[in-house]
Amino acid sequence: MIKCAIVGATGLVGQTILKVLEEKKLRIDEYELFASSRSVGNKIKFMDKEYTVQELTEESFKKTKFNYALFSAGEIISEKYIPLAVKSGCIVVDNSSYFRMYDDVPLVVPEVNEYEIFKHNGIIANPNCSTIQAILPLKALNDEYTISRIIYSTYQAVSGAGNDGISDLVNTRNGSGPNKFPYNITDNCIPQVDIFLENNYTKEEIKMIEETRKILKNPKLPITATCVRIPVLNCHSESINIEFENEFNIQDILKVLSNYPGITVIDEIDNNIYPINELANGIDDILVGRIRRDYSVKNGINLWVVADNVRKGAASNSVQILEKLIEKRHDI
Ligand SMILES: NC(=O)c1ccc[n+]([C@@H]2O[C@H](COP(=O)([O-])OP(=O)(O)OC[C@H]3O[C@@H](n4cnc5c(N)ncnc54)[C@H](OP(=O)(O)O)[C@@H]3O)[C@@H](O)[C@H]2O)c1
Repeated sequence: MIKCAIVGATGLVGQTILKVLEEKKLRIDEYELFASSRSVGNKIKFMDKEYTVQELTEESFKKTKFNYALFSAGEIISEKYIPLAVKSGCIVVDNSSYFRMYDDVPLVVPEVNEYEIFKHNGIIANPNCSTIQAILPLKALNDEYTISRIIYSTYQAVSGAGNDGISDLVNTRNGSGPNKFPYNITDNCIPQVDIFLENNYTKEEIKMIEETRKILKNPKLPITATCVRIPVLNCHSESINIEFENEFNIQDILKVLSNYPGITVIDEIDNNIYPINELANGIDDILVGRIRRDYSVKNGINLWVVADNVRKGAASNSVQILEKLIEKRHDI
């Protein structure tokens, strides 16, 4: 009997996790759905059954012995409740940033480093949504040409800030003031995602830098990032400038990217075809286009990368990890 807890089940990521679980039909016998006291008693239809949302408390992982839990309720909840879940024998996949940089917590995108999943001590972390979509093309190219520097510029959808982010876009379009973002997101590109740190970078920018280094196993890799919130509903776009140690042929780069699992190359500039939000919305593949040489350096390229931040950037990636854990369990 395999039991799984979904923590943050009423949130944007949690709701999408339920959708992906319905699509994938994993071998899980029982689910329980948790959120805050605000949602207690809410009914959610899932897998042809009606579930009642429970309040997450310190007793939740004592009352039921869960084998697995998917957490998407923010850092504070992860910090407090994941150790309790792990103590009860549960394996947790966490969508928050809280445990990502812990040495004993694998940071996993299955297409890139599936083998890391099984090194866990009870917690496996999903990278940040902006890191996930970048890391697939970066890993594909790093394996072939060895990356020596990365410059990230992101154009991030309001859905990256959850249900409150979406409400801010809808409300400010209707003339109300902002609640979630520091400025009106309807009419502005806001060069601030998450809080500012002492080094003048935002936390989002540092997450991208540190997580990329951890996954590529290159702790000193020169990387810089500028993360911007823009007035679109869903899917993050990223301009990624990459320098390599080794020389390359641009046609080979196209081949390497096209052959990598989880990437779809869309690059037909003669027909004005390249990745845009509406093509990425609702799918799990990372879309890569505008692939071109950077003539200002010796071995450099530019990419434009678009992906559904709520699906592959969070929900689908964590369900993929859960799927691998369950497959392994049945292999033994
Ligand atoms: N949105 C994205 O694109 C994205 C991508 C990658 C990672 N993430 C991460 O995923 C997590 C969730 O993000 P989201 O976008 O789904 O946010 P969201 O829409 O704001 O949802 C937050 C969820 O957390 C629950 N929650 C809040 N306080 C709680 C408490 N005290 N006890 C139990 N549950 C509580 C909420 O329950 P109530 O409904 O009861 O308040 C809701 O289910 C965050 O850590 C975020 O950084 C998000």
